[in-house]
Amino acid sequence: MESTPSAPRSVAVFGAGYIGLVTAACLAELGHRVVVRDVVPQKVEALARGEVPFYEPGLSELITRNGERLRFTLDAEDALAGAEVAYVCVDTPPTAAGDADLSRVNAVVEDLVCAPHLAAVVVKSTVPIGTGDRIRERLDLAGLAHVGYASNPEFTAEGKAVADFMHPDRIVVGAADQATRDLVAALHQGVDGPVVRMDVRSAELTKLTANALLMTRISFANEVATLCEATGADVEKVMSAVGMDPRIGPHFLRAGLGWGGSCFPKDGVALKSLASNDGLHLQLLTAVIEVNNLQPRRALQRLKDELGSFTGKTVTMLGMAFKAHTDDMRQAPSEVVASRLLAEGAQVRCWDPLARVTEPQLWDQATRYQDPLEALAGADAAIVVTEWPQLRDLPWQQVAATMAAPVLFDGRNLLDPAAMRAAGFTYLSVGRH
Ligand code: UDX
Repeated sequence: MESTPSAPRSVAVFGAGYIGLVTAACLAELGHRVVVRDVVPQKVEALARGEVPFYEPGLSELITRNGERLRFTLDAEDALAGAEVAYVCVDTPPTAAGDADLSRVNAVVEDLVCAPHLAAVVVKSTVPIGTGDRIRERLDLAGLAHVGYASNPEFTAEGKAVADFMHPDRIVVGAADQATRDLVAALHQGVDGPVVRMDVRSAELTKLTANALLMTRISFANEVATLCEATGADVEKVMSAVGMDPRIGPHFLRAGLGWGGSCFPKDGVALKSLASNDGLHLQLLTAVIEVNNLQPRRALQRLKDELGSFTGKTVTMLGMAFKAHTDDMRQAPSEVVASRLLAEGAQVRCWDPLARVTEPQLWDQATRYQDPLEALAGADAAIVVTEWPQLRDLPWQQVAATMAAPVLFDGRNLLDPAAMRAAGFTYLSVGRH
C-alpha cells in the first residue's frame, strides 16, 4: 500500500479506449475527479449514456458507481480546465515498419502544451524507449519546463483489468524528479501494490520487457510441446513439474495455439523494431515471435494430415476471441486458423459467446452459430481455438454422434484426452498424447 498522503486530484485522461477507461474509472474509484477525452463522438456519446463500448468485467459497474466524479468529453480544453494531472492513454498501433505509431500520443501532447497549469503529464500508452525524453523536450520548448513528466506503464490483462489496476503486482513510476514520482505514487493511494520508482527510460523498457518475457515463456512451452509430440512426453506434466520450481513459477507455461491480443503481437514487434533501429538484432525475441507464428499453422498441418485434405470439408472453430472471457479478437490465432482453412477450401463454421468481429471481410466467409452443438452437427472436424470453460461441459459423446466425422483438434489442451477418445473422438492436442 502506498503511504504518501494524498488529496483527491483533478485528472484528465486522454483516450477512452481499453486502458484509458480502466485508468479513469479506477482513479475515480480512488476518489479523484476525472474527465476523459476522446476524439470519437459516438464513443463519447455512448459513454455519457453509460454504455461501455467493449466487454470488461466490472468496468461498467465502476463507471456507473463513480458517475459523479467521472465525465466524458470531446473537447481537450474542457478536459484540461482545472486538471492537475494529464494521463495519456491513447493507442500506439504498429506502423507499416513495425514501430509503434506515436501520432496519437504526439497529438495529445500538442493539446497539453496549452495547459501550463498542469503539475504532471503521465504516459500510460506503451511507447518506445526515448519517447519520454522527446515529450520532455516538447514541453520545455512550449514553456512547460515546470510541468513534471512520468512514465507509468500498465500491466493490465484483459478480463481482469480492474483487478490488475486495484491490486497490481507493482506500480511502475518513471520520472526524472522525486516530486513527480511522488505525485504519481500518491494518485494511487488506496491501491494495493508496491510502487517502484525509477527513471523514465527504465520504466518504458520495463513494460516491453515484461511482455517479451511472458511471450518467451509461452513460445518455449510451445517448443517443448512440439518435442513432446515427437517423443511421447506430455507437455502439461512436464510444465507443471517445471513450474513448481520457485525460480521458474507456474505462470505462462501453457502450450496451445500461441498468443494473440492487443499487446503481445504489437509490443513484441515494437521491441524488435526498436532494437533494429539501433542496429541491434534481438535474436531470442525474433525466435519467440516466429515460434508463435508457426503454432496455429502447425496445428492445421496436423489436422490436415488426419483429414487428408481440407477441400470441401466442414470445419467448426470453437472460439474466436484471443482468449476466454473477452470479446477481443485483435490478432487472435482464430484469424490465422480461419483464413488458412478458407484458403485450403474448407467450409468454416464458428462459435464464440462474446467475440466482436473486427475483420468482417474474413469472418463474412464463415458461418457463425449461437449454439456450439449446432455448429458441430454434421462437421467433418472441429478445432478448439479459445479455452472457453463451457466447452468442457458439452455432451461430447452426443456431439461425436452428430458430427460427420468425430475429429477434434484441441488447440488449448482444454479437454481430457482419455475422456474424448472414450466419447468416440479422434482427438489431437498440443504436446499431449
Ligand atoms: C497481456 C499481459 O498479460 C499484460 O500484462 C499486458 O499489459 C498486455 O498483454 P492480455 O493480452 O490481456 O495481457 O492477455 P494474457 O492473459 O496475458 O494472454 C495473452 C495471450 O497469451 C493469450 O492469447 C493467451 O491465450 C496466451 N497464453 C497465455 C498462452 O498461450 N499460454 C499461456 O500460458 C498464457
